[in-house]
Amino acid sequence: MEFHAPGNSCLDWSGDALILGLSEAALPLSGTLAELNSQVAGLLQELIDEVEFTGKAGSTAITRVGTGANIRKLGIVGLGAIDAITGDTLRRAAAAAARLAKKEKCASLGLSFPNLQHDAALTAQAIAEGAILALHQDNRFKSEDKNGKPTVEHIHILDLAGQDSSSLQTAQAICDGVILARELVSAPANIVTPELLAQTAQEIASAHGLELEILEREQCEALGMGAYLGVARASDLPPKFIHLTYKPTGTPTRKLAIVGKGLTFDSGGLNIKGAGSGIEMMKIDMGGAAATLGAAKAIAQLKPSAEVHFISAAAENMISGNAMRPGDILTASNGKTIEVNNTDAEGRLTLADALVFAEKLGVDAIVDLATLTGACIIALGDDIAGLFSENEELAEAIATAAKTAGEKFWRLPMEEKYFDGLKSIVADMKNTGPRPGGSITAALFLKQFVNSTPWVHLDVAGPVWTEKESGYNNPGGTGFGVRTLVQWVLSQDTAA
Ligand code: BES
Ligand code: MN
Ligand code: ZN
Repeated sequence: MEFHAPGNSCLDWSGDALILGLSEAALPLSGTLAELNSQVAGLLQELIDEVEFTGKAGSTAITRVGTGANIRKLGIVGLGAIDAITGDTLRRAAAAAARLAKKEKCASLGLSFPNLQHDAALTAQAIAEGAILALHQDNRFKSEDKNGKPTVEHIHILDLAGQDSSSLQTAQAICDGVILARELVSAPANIVTPELLAQTAQEIASAHGLELEILEREQCEALGMGAYLGVARASDLPPKFIHLTYKPTGTPTRKLAIVGKGLTFDSGGLNIKGAGSGIEMMKIDMGGAAATLGAAKAIAQLKPSAEVHFISAAAENMISGNAMRPGDILTASNGKTIEVNNTDAEGRLTLADALVFAEKLGVDAIVDLATLTGACIIALGDDIAGLFSENEELAEAIATAAKTAGEKFWRLPMEEKYFDGLKSIVADMKNTGPRPGGSITAALFLKQFVNSTPWVHLDVAGPVWTEKESGYNNPGGTGFGVRTLVQWVLSQDTAA
C-alpha cells in the first residue's frame, strides 16, 4: 500500500472511493463540501439524510456514485464535536475509512478531512497511521491467503495544503515498528524464541546501522546475572541478552534506555500455570521486548538526537529436572539475593538483571515495559497499562507522549509499605508478595534493582493483545507501547 500527499482538493481527485471525515461542525454543508455536493448531483446530502448522519464519532456511511463521475464511491466518517478532536480521533476515523474502502473493494482511496483546527502535518501523520494500522493483516500462519483478493493499494490524503511527504514518512516509520511488534507478539512461541528475538535485533542493526551486542549464557554468568539465568535454566532454548544501541550523529543530547520483558513463553515453571490460567496465551509474554524492538526499528529510521539503548533479557520459562525450584535463592548482578517463592513471578527476575545492566550504561532515564502481572489486568482491564514511577518529571513525559500517541496508561502508586509483603526470612527479598496489590509489589521488587536513575515501569500485560477488531487494532498482537516510546524519545529532542 502506498501513500500520497498531493495536497489536491477533493473536488478534482479521481479514484475508487472518496471518503470524507466530517465533524459535527461540517453540517450543514458549506464551502468546498457544498461544492462537492453539487458536483455529485446532491448525492452527499442524500447520503447524510438517508443515514441521519450527524457527524457522530465512529459513524460511517458509503454510497455508489453514478457512472461518468470521477469517483466510484462516496463515503463519510464522523469525527464528533470539532473541539474534542484528538490525534486518536483522526487515527480511528482514518481506520474506519480504510476498512470501508477495503470492504467495498476500492484499490484507490482519497481521504479528505477538511476544515479541522489541527496542524496539517500532524493530521496527515495521524490519518496515515490509522489507515496503515487498520489495513495491516497478518496471514503468515494461514495456509490459504484469504486476503489475496484486491485491497486498498493507494491512499491519497487530500485537502491538506502545504504538505510534504515527511509526515507520511514519520507515520510509516512508526507503523513499521508497531507492525513488527504486532507480528512478534502474534507469532507462536515455537517460532519466536530468544534466538529469533536476537536475530530480529540483528536485522534491525544491519538494516539501519545500529550497534548490537548479544550476551550468551556464559557472558551473563560472568556478569553475575543469577536472577535472569535462574529463569532461563530449564529451557532447551538458550537465553539471549539483547543490547541494541542507536547513536545519533554528533554528541547525543540525552542517553536513554528502554528495557522490555522478553519471555518467549511463560509456562510458570514448577509453579506451573494450570487449566484456565491462560497458559496457551503465554507467547505474548515477550510483548515488552516486542515493543522495545519495534521502537528500535522506528527510531533507527526517525534519527532523533538522543542515544537510545534497547535491552531485553530474553528467555523461556519452562520446567525440567534442571529447573529452578520454588524456594531456591538466586543472586542478581547487583549482589541482591532473592528467594524464589513462586517460579511464575519470573519476569521480574529477568528484568532485575536487565535493569542493573541498563543503569550501568550511565543513561539519563530508563523505561521498562513488561507483561508483568495478571493483577494489573484485574486493576485496569485489557486496554489500559499501568505506569509506575517515583520520578514526577519522567512519569509526566511518558504520560504526555502516551496521550499524543493515543495509548492509555494509568498511574499506580509505588506504596513502599507494601514491600513488607516481599520480606524474606532467608534472603534479601522474596520475588512474590500477597495477591492484593500484586502489580504494586512487582514494581517495588523491580525498584530494588535501580539505584538513582530516573525510571518508569510500564505493566502492559493487558493491552499487548486483543481478541477483537477495534479502532485501528486488529485481532492479535497490538504493538502496544511502540508509539508511546517513539513519541517519548522524539520529545527529548526539544526537551533537552
Ligand atoms: N506473564 C505473567 C503475567 C501475565 C498474565 C501476562 C496474564 C499477561 C497475561 C507473569 O509472569 C505471571 O505469571 N505473573 C503472576 C505473578 C504471580 C505469580 C505473583 C500473575 O500475575 O499471576
Ligand atoms: Mn509468570
Ligand atoms: Zn511472565
